Amino acid sequence: MNSPADKEQKDLNTYEGIAKYYDTLMTQGYYDYNEITKDLSEVLGDKTKILELGVGTGLVAEHLLKQNVEYKLTGVDNTEAMINQAKERLGNKIHYELQDITKLSIDDQFQGAFSVGGCWYFIDDGKDLEFCSHIDDYQTCKESFSKVICHLEIGGLLALALQNVHTNYSKKLTEELTYSQEIFKEDNGFTKRYRFTNDKGLVAEQMYRYLTIQGLDTHKLFSELGCEVVGLNSTRKFFVYQKR
Ligand SMILES: C[S@@+](CC[C@H](N)C(=O)[O-])C[C@H]1O[C@@H](n2cnc3c(N)ncnc32)[C@H](O)[C@@H]1O
Repeated sequence: MNSPADKEQKDLNTYEGIAKYYDTLMTQGYYDYNEITKDLSEVLGDKTKILELGVGTGLVAEHLLKQNVEYKLTGVDNTEAMINQAKERLGNKIHYELQDITKLSIDDQFQGAFSVGGCWYFIDDGKDLEFCSHIDDYQTCKESFSKVICHLEIGGLLALALQNVHTNYSKKLTEELTYSQEIFKEDNGFTKRYRFTNDKGLVAEQMYRYLTIQGLDTHKLFSELGCEVVGLNSTRKFFVYQKR
């Protein structure tokens, strides 16, 4: 089957199209935010001034603050409809930056940065890791690494969450709403189609093209850009780098 990315998609690579339904999907078991943020707070240790890459609607930030109210969080996202929901959820509990991380520019430095399915993550098949990026162009993705590393203090941590291998499936979220996703493998990545339907048909659809890079190559890139490769956390939920 031809990948949908082959066709011109005016709204490719943004969450605008599905922002309205995002929380319904996520809070029906897509992620376990309590477990994720428990592990994340262990990874971050005593570091509290933290940048979230791809804050989305603020679900991770909300749960992280439940782990420790001392966190000073800045959430970056380039989808206005997503960050607006984060603002509704969290008000002034965190700071917001409507920015694309490929051009990240914040007049501040952080003790840590993390991404949970945000701009970057790893896919874990139980044996190897594959880096996965919402920035689907290799050079631009590499530039985004530099931009984020610039915003870390020396010794600052970068924690990227692991996810399971993506599959095609369909799931009823509520009486009215069904979610389905389809993965289209391509060279150097894949396109994922997110679909929300009700009994009348399609209510929202989004295509997102992801770049993938082998885990070991990614570690090499971060190392070349001035980071130590710390490795997996004890629960195999995060992969961690530290700025030298
Ligand atoms: C799957 S959502 C994850 C949101 C949140 N971390 C969570 O777990 O609920 C991915 C988010 O990353 C944002 N994103 C993707 N590429 C980005 C970029 N280049 N710069 C900033 N944000 C980006 C999207 O707009 C989206 O809100």
